[in-house]
This record gives sequence, C-alpha cells and structure tokens, in this order.
Amino acid sequence: MQFSTKTLSADRLKTGCAIVPVVVGEPLAGDARAIDQAQGGRLAAVIARGDLQKKAGSTVMLHLEGALQRVLLVSVGGSAEVTEKSYTDAVAAVWRALASAAADEVVSLLHEATVSQRSLEWKLHAQVMAGRAAAYRFESMKSRKDSAPRRPRQVVFSVARAQQAAASQAVARAQALANGMDFTRDLGNLPPNICTPTYLADQAKKLAREFGLKIEVLDTRQMQALKMGALLAVAQGSEQPPKFIVLQYNGASSRQQPVALVGKGITFDTGGISIKPAAGMDEMKFDMCGAASVLGTLRAVAEMKLKINLIGVVPTCENMPSGRATRPGDIVTSMSGQTVEILNTDAEGRLILCDALTYVERFKPRTVIDIATLTGACVVALGHHHSGLFTPQDALAAELLDAGRDSGDTCWRMPLDEAYQDSLKSRFADVANVGGRDGGAITAACFLARFAKKYDWAHLDIAGTAWKSGAAKGASARPVPLLTHFLISRAEG
Ligand code: BES
Ligand code: MN
Ligand code: ZN
Repeated sequence: MQFSTKTLSADRLKTGCAIVPVVVGEPLAGDARAIDQAQGGRLAAVIARGDLQKKAGSTVMLHLEGALQRVLLVSVGGSAEVTEKSYTDAVAAVWRALASAAADEVVSLLHEATVSQRSLEWKLHAQVMAGRAAAYRFESMKSRKDSAPRRPRQVVFSVARAQQAAASQAVARAQALANGMDFTRDLGNLPPNICTPTYLADQAKKLAREFGLKIEVLDTRQMQALKMGALLAVAQGSEQPPKFIVLQYNGASSRQQPVALVGKGITFDTGGISIKPAAGMDEMKFDMCGAASVLGTLRAVAEMKLKINLIGVVPTCENMPSGRATRPGDIVTSMSGQTVEILNTDAEGRLILCDALTYVERFKPRTVIDIATLTGACVVALGHHHSGLFTPQDALAAELLDAGRDSGDTCWRMPLDEAYQDSLKSRFADVANVGGRDGGAITAACFLARFAKKYDWAHLDIAGTAWKSGAAKGASARPVPLLTHFLISRAEG
C-alpha cells in the first residue's frame, strides 16, 4: 500500500474510489459538494434517502459511470464538530469497506472532516496507520499465501496546495512508523525455532546496513569479559548462544547526549527450572517483543532522519531448563557488581535487563527507557489497554504519558517508591530476583531501578499490550508508536 498527497480538483476526479466524509444531517460542503454537483446530485440524493446512518463509521458505496468509478460515503457522525473517536471509527470503517471493492487506487478526502483539536497531520497519520494495520499479514510460514490482492495499492490524499509540505511530511512519517511497526510485528510473530538470538542479531545487522547505523553484536566471551553474570545465568540453560546487540543512530551533533532504548529479548521463556505450566506456553515466543520494539523504533527514527542520537540495546537469549540451567538459589554477580539470588528462574527478564542497564552507562545517556514483557502481574493490574510506566522522574513520566496519548498507544504510571524495595531482600545476596506475588509488576521495576541510577530512566512493562491472544493472536507492535512520538518530541521539542 503506497500513500501520497496531491492537490486535485474534486469535480474532475479520475480514480477507482473517492472517500468522502459526511456529517449526517448537514448539507454537503467543500469537496464533497463539488463531487456531488459533478455527479448531478447523486450523493445528496442517496443521503437524503436515509441509507447512510448517523453512527460514525457507517458507509455506503456508490457505483458510478465514468472517470470516477465509485464514491464511498462515510459517516463521521451527526455533528460538524467531529470527535476523535468518531473520526477513528470512520477511518477503520473505510478500510473494511475497501476490502470488498476492487479499486486499485483511491482518493481520500476523509481528512476534510473537522476533528476537534486535531490537525490535518494527525488526521492523515490516523488514516495511514489504520490502512497499514488493516493490510498487515503474517504469511511467511504458510505454504499457501492468501491469494487475494492487497487493495487498494495506491492511496492519494487530496490536500490544498498550501498544505502540501506539511501533509507530505506527515504521510512520510506515518509510513516510516508503519514500516517500523511491521518490522516489530514480523519479529514478534515468527516462531521461536526461527527467531533465535542469532536471528535477531542478523536482523539487526541487516537493519544497520540498510540505514547506515553503527552496530556491534557481543558474543558469550565478550559478555563474560564484561562480567555480565546475570544475563549469562539466564542464557546458560539453552543450546542457543546469547547475543548482546548494540545499535547506534546518530542524527544530531556528537555533543548531544543520546537516548537509549533497552529491549528484553527472551526469544522463548519456558520459565527455566521454575518451569511454566503448559497451557498457552507458545505465547512466550512473544517474550522478545521489547527487543523487537527497540529495533522497529530505530527503523522508524532512521527512516524519518530525526535529529537525535539514539542507542538501541538488545540483550537476547532463551530461557530453558536443562542440566546446565541456572537453579533456584543460585547467586550470580551482575555487571554492576551487585550480587543477585535467583529465587525464581522465571523472573529472567530483569536479570538480562540489569546487565544491559549497566552496560548503557558508557554512552552517558540523558535518558534510558527499557521495554519488556516483564510481568504477568502487570497484566493483572492494567489489562490490555495501557502499558505500565514506571519512572522516578516526573518530567519524563509526563513526556511519555503525552507521547502515549498523541499516538493512541497509551501507558499508565505505576508507583515505584522505596517502600517496595524491602520485598527484594535476600538472606544471602545483595538482592533477590523476586519479591512476593503482591505488587509483582512494581517489585520487578524496583529491581531494575537498582541498576539505573546514573541517568533518567523509565521502564515500560508491555506484558499486556505487546501481543493479542485468542483468534486474533499476534504481535501488536506496541509501544513503537509511543516511543517514536516521544523521540519526535525530543528531536523537535
Ligand atoms: N515473560 C514473563 C512475563 C509474562 C507472563 C508476560 C505472562 C506476559 C504474559 C516473565 O518472564 C515472567 O515469567 N514473569 C514472572 C515473574 C514472577 C516469577 C515473579 C511472572 O509474571 O509470573
Ligand atoms: Mn519468565
Ligand atoms: Zn519472560
């Protein structure tokens, strides 16, 4: 699906389908009116008959003769001041309606609806994102691909000449974000026998080549030399060698301190010796979605050429039970020097992340954000709507909450006070890798906080948002939109 912007005269459209927003009960205005007049009043007549319902997202497809082959009338509700929700409902309905039409090219005028407090750029962005989400398929593992062509192939947004520059930048950025999200989704959806730590490292190298990023992939020996004892303890039960991926995108002056993103890359989480129950264990292939979101965000940022310095760090390994696996009760020394008593081998994410949080200190980052499918407790607390946000810094919390609202990829702040640290006391080491069952998402964040003292830091627990279960099982690419919007604000704020 390709998107572009053009300045077109509505009364002379030549396309497979024009997408026209309608405020039901109000007379047609602007381009909608021009199309109606060019069609001898057919649009208004159909609307007057009452076929288009008031509910935002109702649609009627008109089939015409001539250069304009179809018009898709889309209700944006019953009042001229369209709400964000009505607009996004209308956008979603457009892609559903187009799926059953054979138009290869469409011209959208949907953004001509006035959405309260939202810019043209936002309205275009929403259309691109919904179109790309609807077009996404994961079929690389099916021997027979779905043969139906992806339609439409070309989407043209008609915008006034004066708005061309802003509109085309918005569309280019939305496509870059969608490309990053598809990359994240593909990595998440791949099976764990293919998407191994080595595969992730190879994909990161490919990404680096394509976008001119700096890359380093550390192997076991290099991690041993760095004394990453916590990460290596998780990796030691698996036949798959761990990798430590470091990517650098330099879009700003080298004097500017970078932002670092750190993503949990457990390519399969069996729980290790503290093994998980069998039911639904396949979904633990998604335990590398934090890593995939770091790679996808880097892809989006690099394609947008944002003026920012960004580091992506991905500690990646597999959490397996075996004769070599770490045991409950093992004590390991992390790269920071703190010793950790591994009381539960299924709390492995924090073990690989703590060494990565120490490693990033060398870049003197201004801000570090880690992204992890870290705890089932976060899903219990927040469900599947918001990612969990933990940070000691109020200003950083505000930035991330805003980026979530702007992108529609929201997070919700959770507590992180010292009081919770008590539960991580170990009888034998500096810290235990688990607290009790209660407040499990918070104590996991508290564990990480001990390793993130040298910079501003936030932790996103995406256990409830990174993928969907059930019939629509699949990676969501969250929180790539949130992170990308945050970085756009940092680059331009
Ligand atoms: N990857 C899981 C967290 C998870 C579980 C995410 C279910 C999404 C759905 C993580 O490694 C884990 O196993 N966490 C444990 C922590 C516990 C042992 C303290 C959990 O949540 O049960
Ligand atoms: Mn686990
Ligand atoms: Zn895990």
